[in-house]
Amino acid sequence: MTNEYVLILDFGGQYNQLIARRVRECNVYCEVKPYNKIGIDEIKKLSPKGIIFTGGPQSVYGEDAPSVPKEIFELGIPVLGICYGSQLMAHVLGGKVETCKVSEYGKTETFYDKKCALFADAEIPESAISWMSHTDFISAVPEGFSVAAHTSNCPCSAMYNEEKKLYAVQFHPEVNHTQFGVKMLDSFLKDVCCCTGDWTMENYAEKSIKEIREKVGSGKVLLALSGGVDSSVLAALLSKAIGRQLTCIFVDHGFMRKNEGDEVEAAFKDWDINFVRVNAKEQFMGKLRGVSDPETKRKTIGEEFIRVFEAEAKKIGHVDFLAQGTIYPDVIESGAGDAAVIKSHHNVGGLPDHVDFKEIIEPLRMLFKDETRKLGQELGLSETLVWRQPFPGPGLAIRIIGEITDDKLEILQDADWIFREEIAKAGLDRSINQYFAVLTNNRSVGVMGDFRTYDYTLALRAVETTDFMTAEFSRIPYEVLEAASRRIVNEVKNINRVCYDITTKPPATIEWE
Ligand code: XMP
Repeated sequence: MTNEYVLILDFGGQYNQLIARRVRECNVYCEVKPYNKIGIDEIKKLSPKGIIFTGGPQSVYGEDAPSVPKEIFELGIPVLGICYGSQLMAHVLGGKVETCKVSEYGKTETFYDKKCALFADAEIPESAISWMSHTDFISAVPEGFSVAAHTSNCPCSAMYNEEKKLYAVQFHPEVNHTQFGVKMLDSFLKDVCCCTGDWTMENYAEKSIKEIREKVGSGKVLLALSGGVDSSVLAALLSKAIGRQLTCIFVDHGFMRKNEGDEVEAAFKDWDINFVRVNAKEQFMGKLRGVSDPETKRKTIGEEFIRVFEAEAKKIGHVDFLAQGTIYPDVIESGAGDAAVIKSHHNVGGLPDHVDFKEIIEPLRMLFKDETRKLGQELGLSETLVWRQPFPGPGLAIRIIGEITDDKLEILQDADWIFREEIAKAGLDRSINQYFAVLTNNRSVGVMGDFRTYDYTLALRAVETTDFMTAEFSRIPYEVLEAASRRIVNEVKNINRVCYDITTKPPATIEWE
C-alpha cells in the first residue's frame, strides 16, 4: 500500500484503538505500534507523515515509565502527544511534570489559544468541553514551547512548538465527549502533517483486489465462511479478485439464529464462487450431549468445527492459500501487555492443523470493523449482512445455560427472533451494538389462563459499546421491553418469565457463558 502513513505509538492507554479509528475517519491511514517494539531506525524507514503518542497509565517519573529517545523529536516529523504522551514530550524535552493539586477527570471546560494550529479552525470556539483523565500535569513547558490551552485547575492543558511541529494535549481529543476533538485531530493531520487524506474504502478495494490477484496468481483459495461481517466481506472481496479460484466452506453447526443458515446460503447463492454448506447439527449435538460446563462447550465446538472443516477441505484436495477474516483489533498488540484470558474464544475460521495449504492470507488485517463494513458496502454486500451484529463462534450453544437439547434450541431461536423483531421495529437495531436472548436453566411458577405453569425464564441482553471490552447495558424504552416480553410469553411455548439483564461489563461479560 502506498497511502500516507501516520504512526501511533502506544504507551498502554485505554483509548489507543479509538485514536487510530479517529485518524482513519479523517481518511488518513495509521498503524498502532507498542512504543517499545519499534526503534528510531524503523521509524525513519517508515517515514510517517506524523507520529501520535497515546496516553498511558504511568507517571513519567515512575519506575519503568515508558519513554522515547529524544531523537524522535529531531526527525523533522510532526508529533502530537496525548495525555501521558503530552507529559512524556514535556519531560524528555526538558520541561517539568508535577502532580496536580486537583486531579482532573471527565468533562472539563477548556480555554484554547486560537493561534495554535490544533485550535485555529473557525469551527472551534475559544472555550469548549474536553475530556480529561489525569493526575500529573505539565507545570513548565520545554524551551521553545508555548502554552496553548488551560482550564480553571490546570495552567497547561496543551502546548506547542510551531517551528518544530511538536504539539501536545493533556485531554483526549479522540473521545466523543471532547467537543471538536476530531476537528483538532484533523487539523493536526491536514494542517501540520500536510496529509491530503487518501485513505478511502473505494481505493482500498481497488488496491487490495490488485494485490490479491498478484499474490494468488492461478492458485486455489479456501475460506471458512461464518456469515459474520468479517468473513462475508472477505468472501466478497476474494470473489471480485479471483472468482471461482475461491471455495467457501460454511459449516452450519446448528446453533445459528433462526433461519440464519439459510440466509447465509441465500446471500452467496449468486456470487461467482464455489460455495459448500455442511449441515453438521447432528454431529455437534452428539458431541455436546450431557455437557453443561461453558468452557467444555466452547472447546468441544471449536474442536469439532475444525474437524468438520478439515474433512470438507480434504474433498477439495490441495489448496494454495487459506484466507482468514482477521481484522485490525485482533492484530493490535497493546503496549500495556497481555490481558488475562476470560473465555476461550472460538472464531469460526480458526486454524485447522490438517489442511494442506501453502500460506495464509488475511486481506482485512489492517481494517477496523467500521471500515470492514464500509468495504462490504463498497463491494455490494446486502445491508443485512454488512450490519449484522456480532455473533459468537459457538453461537446459541453458549446462550443456552446448562445442557443443550433440541427443544431448548428451538425455544431460544423463537424467543431471540421476537426480541430482534421488536428492536428493529423500534428502530434501535443500529444504535444497540449487540442484543440477544439467553435461555436460563431456571424454571419458575406462573399462571396462564386458569392453569399453573412451571416453565423457563428467558433473559434479554442488550449492550452499547465501542470495543466490546467494556459495555453498558442499553437503556431500552420500557414499552419496547414490554412488547418483547408480552410476545415472547404468548408466542413461545415453555417460557413464562422474561428478565432484562442490567449489568455492565465488567463485572459481567456480554455473553452469559
Ligand atoms: P464477552 O462475553 O467476552 O464477549 O463479553 C465479547 C464479544 O465477543 C463475542 N464473543 C465471541 N466471538 N467467538 C467469537 O467470534 C467466540 O467464541 C466468542 N465469545 C464471545 C461476544 O458475542 C461479544 O460480542
